[in-house]
Formats: sequence, C-alpha cells, structure tokens
Amino acid sequence: MPVPLVIDTDTAQDDCIALLVGLLDPAADLRAITMVAGNLGFDQQVRNAFATLFVAGRLGEVPVHLGARRPLVREAVDASDVHGDGTGGLAAELAARHPSLAAAAPAAEHAVDALIRLAAEHSGELSVVAIGPLTNIALAMLKDPEFVGNVRKLYVMGGSNNGRGNITAAAEFNFYVDPEAARAVFRAGFDVVVLPWDPVTLRDAVFDQPVLDRIAALDTPLARFFTRVCAATLEFDRRVGIDGTTHPDSLTAALALHPELVTSAGRYHVDVETAGELTRGYSAMSWGVHTLEPNATVIEKADAPAFRHYLRTLLSRESAVS
Ligand code: BDR
Ligand code: CA
Repeated sequence: MPVPLVIDTDTAQDDCIALLVGLLDPAADLRAITMVAGNLGFDQQVRNAFATLFVAGRLGEVPVHLGARRPLVREAVDASDVHGDGTGGLAAELAARHPSLAAAAPAAEHAVDALIRLAAEHSGELSVVAIGPLTNIALAMLKDPEFVGNVRKLYVMGGSNNGRGNITAAAEFNFYVDPEAARAVFRAGFDVVVLPWDPVTLRDAVFDQPVLDRIAALDTPLARFFTRVCAATLEFDRRVGIDGTTHPDSLTAALALHPELVTSAGRYHVDVETAGELTRGYSAMSWGVHTLEPNATVIEKADAPAFRHYLRTLLSRESAVS
C-alpha cells in the first residue's frame, strides 16, 4: 500500500527533487504539499512547487497549502544567495509558456490546518516529511494536541550530528532559521527520524560531476528539470568546498518510502540551541552516554549508490511535461 504522505517544504533546488519523489514514486500517496518560510521569498517558493507539480504532470492533483511566512519568533532568514530563484529561472519560463501553470492557485485551507486534518483523517498512518524549517510542524502540534499522536512518523531534514553547519559553523540552515520550532518539535514526543547535514548529507547525498552527467544523459523531461534546477547551486557548492550538488531533502523523502536506504541509524536525544550567541540552531545530538532519554532516530549512514540509482530511475521516466 502506498504511504500517505505530506511534504512540508521551502521549495528550492533539492526540495523540488524531493517533491518529485513524493509525486512520482508509486510507493507514495502524496496527500498535500505544505509550504513554510525558508530558502526563498515565500511566493517564489510557491511558484517553484507549482512548477514541480507541472513538470511531474500532476498539477491540480495534489493541493498546495500556504503555511507560516516567517519563523515562530524571529525574523525570516533566507538562502537566496545560494539558490537564486530556486529553479535556475525555469519556474518563470514554464509559467510564461503554460497558462495552466501561470493560473495555478493554492488551496484555501492553511497549511497548518491541512496538516492537522490529514493527520486526523489518516491517524496512525500519515508520514510527514519536513524538509524546511519546522515552523508549520510546531504550529500544528500547538494548535491540535492530537497532532503528535496522529502522525505515524515525522521525517526531518535538519541539524548536524555534532558536526559542521552550513549557514554558520555551528548550525544547519533549517534549524538555524527557526530554532524555537525545532526545539519544540523534538520535545513533543513525535516518532521522529532525522537526516542531518553533517556527516550524512555531505558524505552520502552529494552528486559529483560524473553522477550529474549520467543523469543529464537520460535526457528525459524530468532529467532536464533536475539538471536545470540543481545547476543553480553547483557553483556555490564548489565555492564552499563541496564537490557536487547536495540532496538531503530528496534523500529524506526517499528513505521515508524505502527505509532500506538507511544503512546505519542510532537512537539519540536531540535538542536545538535557541540561546547561544554563536550557536543559534546548533543541534546537540546526545548518543546515550549523557543519561538523556532518546527522543529521535538519527540517520548515521545511507546507501549512497542505491540512492543515486533510485533517483536516476525516477528521473528516467518519460511521463512528464517539459
Ligand atoms: C537544507 O536547507 C535548504 O537550503 C535545503 O533545502 C535543505 O532543506 C540544508 O541545510
Ligand atoms: Ca529544504
């Protein structure tokens, strides 16, 4: 049976590929896309989500719900210096050519209400894949005390396992943007699985040039979409010493559907720094020696070749629009 799923996203670059996972993998029953402030200006993120739906041939089939336009208590921080518009200009080009895409409209229901409703409708069955700041998830659990118990599993892309950050030395972007939300979520009692930036993304979810070339050679509409969308960040990645494009969001979506992509994981007590002067958003992942009760499963290693193969296979499908 396909897994009922919501993807909560700040859609730019790899978020788009994570949406393709939810939209095209037959193992997924993507019930909704919920939007949260993060990578880019909010409205651009929404345009990117619609462009992805369009390219997947699923525009109008999966609703897009607008959520929090800023973090719980802080000013919004984005990463438009890294992502540009998040699609290498493709979202605007497609909208200019396709009136149905230009006219796409979000659902009337707020993202937080959609999360609450879907979790209640699929109580004990809904998986939530959160690949942006955790603002919407925190708001849903504050609004509905049943939300935590109704969600089967919460998959989070965020933090580092006591390692390097990417927006500061200490913090990964999603936790940095809304550390109060992240802290609240880890203290709430979800069955939560975390895919960190360091070491797992940096080791198992970077696509170097030969991998990117093999994807480009597929020459399907989806592979062309991937190449265009991901090319936008390649220059930035290389400048900061990463030899390729990074795919933590799509890996998180993929492993929610295919747990065998995880080759090592541990139970940790995860908490997020909200007060530090230099360490805002730092994720303290305590591995059991500090007498703290575990509250999360942290992925330690993923099957990188299997993940690359998985995405290549997904992108080799012809059934999409260009
Ligand atoms: C995370 O930040 C975003 O820029 C990416 O989409 C990913 O979710 C990595 O730190
Ligand atoms: Ca993201």
